[in-house]
Amino acid sequence: MSQPLGKLSRSADETMQLGGVLAGIVNPGDLLLLIGELGSGKTTFVKGFAKACGIVQEVTSPTFILARSYPLSLPHQFSTGEGISSNKINFAVTKIIHCDAYRLESWEEVVDLGFDEELDEGAVVLVEWGEKVKQLMGSSWLEVHFETVDMTDNTRKISFLPVGSDWQKRLWLLKKAILKDRQ
Ligand SMILES: Nc1ncnc2c1ncn2[C@@H]1O[C@H](COP(=O)(O)OP(=O)(O)OP(=O)(O)O)[C@@H](O)[C@H]1O
Ligand SMILES: [Mg+2]
Repeated sequence: MSQPLGKLSRSADETMQLGGVLAGIVNPGDLLLLIGELGSGKTTFVKGFAKACGIVQEVTSPTFILARSYPLSLPHQFSTGEGISSNKINFAVTKIIHCDAYRLESWEEVVDLGFDEELDEGAVVLVEWGEKVKQLMGSSWLEVHFETVDMTDNTRKISFLPVGSDWQKRLWLLKKAILKDRQ
């Protein structure tokens, strides 16, 4: 098997930036499972993802309510300090759903969140502790793994693992986006 696609992040800002890179290539109906220990940077990544989608509300961990939804307005444009700038998010994405499965106690709770319908209707769903919901999900998703490399500094290893043919076919796009981001 080939090496997983990955990148070292040396700060919370770099992790946010990488979240933004992923946001630039998602399609409606994409499921992103974020996997990594406590404090490894999952929420920070989602913050960067949401920022790149033009979401201006502060993104905080939905640990107790399980999931929070952020509708995207059309056209996907947002106001920055420098004026209006158009982001690169697929215009057909209707909303971003941020889930934290840490406190998940039963499958019914996940079913009740209605991700299947949301994905069908054009949402992109990001799930922290995504390994807990895998069994309930469809046939293709992207796993984003977060590892703390050295407890004494801020370095995290973030790697992307496509599951199912849809994401496997698209991994080259992500690779290209990450390489472009390095320049
Ligand atoms: N390279 C880095 N990437 C991400 N976060 C970093 C990095 N370096 C330091 N940090 C800090 O580590 C913390 C990561 O917290 P975050 O809430 O994103 O983690 P999490 O994986 O969502 O945790 P939890 O499992 O509790 O939900 C933040 O305080 C962030 O500022
Ligand atoms: Mg978190």
